[in-house]
Amino acid sequence: STRSTGSGSTPSTGSTGSTIEPGPGIDALRRWVADVASLTQPDDIVWVDGSEEENRSLLTGMVRSGSIVALDDSLRPGSFLARSDPADVARVEDRTFICSATEADAGPTNNWRDPAEMREELTARFGGSMRGRTMYVVPFSMGPVGGAISQVGVQVTDSPYVVVSTRIMTRMGAEALAEIGPDTEWVPALHTVGMPLVADDGSAVGDVPWPSNEVKIIAHFPETREIWSYGSGYGGNALLAKKCFALRIASVMARQDGWLAEHMLLIRLTTPAGKVLHIAAAFPSACGKTNFAMMTPSLPGWKVETIGDDIAWLRPGADGRLWAINPEAGFFGVAPGTGPDTNPAAMATVRSNTIFTNVAMTLDGDVWWEGATEEPPKHLIDWRGRPWTPDSPEPAAHPNARFTVAAAQCPTISGDWDSHDGVPIDAIVFGGRRATNVPLVAEAEDWEHGVFFGSTISSEQTAAAEGPVGELRLDPFAMLPFCGYNMADHWQHWLEIGDQLGSKAPKVFRVNWFRKSSDGGYLWPGFGENIRVLEWIADRLEDDAEVEWSPVGGLPRVGGLDVAGLGLDGFALDELFEVDAVAWSAEAEQLRAHFDRFGDRVPQRLRDRLDQLTRRLDAA
Ligand code: GTP
Ligand code: MN
Ligand code: MN
Repeated sequence: STRSTGSGSTPSTGSTGSTIEPGPGIDALRRWVADVASLTQPDDIVWVDGSEEENRSLLTGMVRSGSIVALDDSLRPGSFLARSDPADVARVEDRTFICSATEADAGPTNNWRDPAEMREELTARFGGSMRGRTMYVVPFSMGPVGGAISQVGVQVTDSPYVVVSTRIMTRMGAEALAEIGPDTEWVPALHTVGMPLVADDGSAVGDVPWPSNEVKIIAHFPETREIWSYGSGYGGNALLAKKCFALRIASVMARQDGWLAEHMLLIRLTTPAGKVLHIAAAFPSACGKTNFAMMTPSLPGWKVETIGDDIAWLRPGADGRLWAINPEAGFFGVAPGTGPDTNPAAMATVRSNTIFTNVAMTLDGDVWWEGATEEPPKHLIDWRGRPWTPDSPEPAAHPNARFTVAAAQCPTISGDWDSHDGVPIDAIVFGGRRATNVPLVAEAEDWEHGVFFGSTISSEQTAAAEGPVGELRLDPFAMLPFCGYNMADHWQHWLEIGDQLGSKAPKVFRVNWFRKSSDGGYLWPGFGENIRVLEWIADRLEDDAEVEWSPVGGLPRVGGLDVAGLGLDGFALDELFEVDAVAWSAEAEQLRAHFDRFGDRVPQRLRDRLDQLTRRLDAA
């Protein structure tokens, strides 16, 4: 690692940005870093090497400056708590932009800005934005270094929190840098918290524990494969390797190069008979991916191993099957609701070496969040640093409080989760949070029907316990906030991948853990009991179970799903699988409106599937 003081160039605040020209190769990287420094004017430039020593010194520095708190070393060894600015706690979808050459290429579900205009605005905002701070150059590999599906990127950031978090979430540092040869394509990612410590008149500005800016801009340039992120320190906006690169930019790369970058967990399932299966599943944010990926099966003899909990890159392999890797190296998981009963594997994972953000702290220096224990402690420090008791009106942890922890620490991690070639996928599962209509599990007739399932994933804002279906929030492929190009083109790309895979394509299923009974309670216990649905899926893959074809897909035959010991009466089972033709007809009309948003970019094959659904419902 090299360290140099000062950029040594003339400030270029207010320039057009034409000096910042990333390109392939290591020389272009050095030029780009120098150009970014001359624009942002940091005090120091540090190329990070990813070493333990460097990590420790960054963490110690942050504790000393008050930007993080060291947790008690006997209760939570090697772990820290960061409290964000209360206005910087989540992804900012309305400030996230896809700056493709044309608006149509971004599509109706993305915010679009003209790339030249956005570049000009960002160049002005980045001008002098790192004054008084250190600029870190952070090379990282998504996927194992040198892996067949892996990609490298370089993030420049003025946030040490981002550096220590990226070290957990990716393969960061010297090894990744060594991957960049004279011609290597790498993705440039600029990040600043947008709070310089030197004002325009040269006077000093005091630092705060969590610097950020009221103005936030998360911009993606798909044609040049660049990311610029301004004003936020929150993970989804600032850890650019994750959502910005591994989903938005990678989805564009994947479309061009014949693979898929998806918001999916990956697991290995071993049946009591010893059969090994690999499953990829897409559920929207906060719909259960991390929990499913770390499931502790309630049925004896079954084993679920974690490969990934949020992102999968999938590619047709030399054998004609679909292979997948988890491009990440860590978990950035939702803390609230994670407890010893619902997700013991996650609880064990975060025992040590974890960075917590916006959880509550106990008086003896441990962490707590709603759901961590049944009874809350009598006294806590809440996520904003204020005293808290069970009588306090607000939750102690922010609902989007997160843990950042290495995947290798997870007790259920698969032994070869980081293998270079990944794993061959046997089944793809789509899910959403639906109080009504969508059965517990249904099988697609074929890949095309599965793409129809994916294109119509939805969740409900509120629990519509009775009456007509409520307004649906469509989140196709669980990629609504993450697809770097027109969503309808994404569906077409999926159809083409299926054409290529042919008979070797994985089977596709749709699940819904969240259906409610007329009295408003969940019909299905979920979590570890979801193994029963996996058992049925495994039986279908092995041709060991029969289906009952309904207008919305293949359902388990009566007795086909093992519900022994759950205390579900026949009535509850009927409710879990009921396909109400009237309610579904209303839903089909909403799906038609959903497709119409995308105009003639919707593949005809998916429109045909929707027509087929309507015909089947009319006949039912
Ligand atoms: P992101 O990390 O934001 O992409 O979300 P995620 O998909 O990983 O969601 P996560 O696993 O963190 O779960 C979100 C919420 O769903 C939590 O409150 C869980 O308790 C709840 N949840 C997860 N699985 C189940 C389930 O099987 N049944 C029920 N009822 N709730 C579940
Ligand atoms: Mn996610
Ligand atoms: Mn998650």
